[in-house]
Amino acid sequence: MSGSLLVRNIGRLTTWHEPVLTDAALLARDGRVVWTGSERDVPADAGDVPTLDAGGAAVLPGFVDCHTHLPFAGWRAEEYEQKVTGVPYEEIARSGGGIASSARAFAAASDEEVLAQARALAAEMLAAGTTAFESKTGYGLSVDAEARAVRLGRALGADRVTGLFAHAVPEGYDRDDWMDCVDALAASCDVDALDIYVESVAFTNENLAHLGAIAARQGVPLRAHVEQFNANRSVPVALAAGARSVDHLACLHPDDIAPLAAAECAAVLLPGAEFLGAERVAPARELADAGAICVLGTDLNPGTSPVSSLPVVIGLAVRRYGWSVREALLACTLNAAWVLGLSDELGSLEVGKRADVVLLDTPAAHLPYRFGRNPVCLVIRAGEVVYVRPDAAWRLAS
Ligand code: NIG
Ligand code: FE
Repeated sequence: MSGSLLVRNIGRLTTWHEPVLTDAALLARDGRVVWTGSERDVPADAGDVPTLDAGGAAVLPGFVDCHTHLPFAGWRAEEYEQKVTGVPYEEIARSGGGIASSARAFAAASDEEVLAQARALAAEMLAAGTTAFESKTGYGLSVDAEARAVRLGRALGADRVTGLFAHAVPEGYDRDDWMDCVDALAASCDVDALDIYVESVAFTNENLAHLGAIAARQGVPLRAHVEQFNANRSVPVALAAGARSVDHLACLHPDDIAPLAAAECAAVLLPGAEFLGAERVAPARELADAGAICVLGTDLNPGTSPVSSLPVVIGLAVRRYGWSVREALLACTLNAAWVLGLSDELGSLEVGKRADVVLLDTPAAHLPYRFGRNPVCLVIRAGEVVYVRPDAAWRLAS
C-alpha cells in the first residue's frame, strides 16, 4: 500500500500539536498522517500496513527549507577565498563576480546539467531531513533565462517556486527598466511568490514597494531579501506592502523589531549566510522575545551560503541566536511551512497532513550540540521511506 506505514517504538515523538509523546507510534495511510499516540494504543486496523521499527529514535516532522536558490549552475569557491581574505561582497559583485558569474554559468549549462546538480543537492538535503523546499529563480538575469529558471524549478519538483526576478540589475538595464521586465515575468510565469534583493548593489526600497504592487495584482505573496549587508530600513516598506516574509535581517534596525513582530510577516533568518559571510548576526533572540514568526532556512546558493543542511543551520542558530532547540526546530518546520503557505499541509505531524517524518539516531538536543554531525538516519516523505542511512536499514526489517 503506497504511502502507508506504521512507525513503532518511537522514543520521543514531536508532533507540535500535542506534547512530546514517549513510547509512541505514528500511522500513515495514503501519504497522510492518520493517527499518532502511545505505542499501547496502536489502532487495531493497522495490521495491514508495513511496519518500521524506530528503535527508540527521536522522531520529528520533516524539515522545510523555505529559502533556497536552487536551481543554480556550478559553484563560486574562489570567491569564498577572496571573501575570507578580505575582499567585500559588494566589490566582488561589482567586478563581475557574484550573481552575474552564476548567471553566466546558468546560461552555459544545459537544462539537464542544471537539473543534475540541483537534484544531487536535493538528495543531499533529503539525507539531512529536508522533505520540502522552495526554489528561487534569480540566476537568469534576462527575461528568457528567468522564465527558464521557473521551468527548471518546477521540473526539480520544488514544493514552491518563487520568482526572484529582481535579484541583480542585468547589464544594459537600469533598475526601473528591469522592473518593467519583472512585471511582465510575474504576469507570464507560473510562480507561487515574488521576491526581490534590496541592497546597494541590487534594488531599492522603491523597487520593493513596486514589487509589492505587482505581487498584489498577481495574487501571490511578496518576499524580500532585506537588511543583509546594510541597514536600508526596508522592513517598514515590506510590511506596508503586505510581505509574507522578510529574509536575512542581519542589519535589522532595532526600531523595526516590534512592528515586524506585530505583523503577519515572518522573519526568515539565514545563519549559514551570516556565518560564512562574516555578516552581522540578526537580532534573533529579540525577534523571538517580541513574538515574531521566526523562521530558519539554508539560503542554499553558490555565493553567500553553499549550505544544504538544516541541521547545520539549526546548530548555528542555537549557538549564535541563543535559541532553544524547540525554537530552532519550530523555525524550520511549522513556521517555515507557513512562509510557503503550506502550514495546512506540512510542518507538523497532525492528522491529515502529509506524512513527512524524520528519524534521528540521537535525542533532538544533539542536533545543535554535536554541531556539524548529521543525526538523520531515516526519512519518510508522504508515507514512503525515501532515505535510509545504511546503518539504519535494520529498522525496516519487520
Ligand atoms: O540570499 N543576497 C542576495 N542573494 C543571495 C546571494 C546570491 C549570490 O551571491 O549568488 C542570498 O544571499
Ligand atoms: Fe537568499
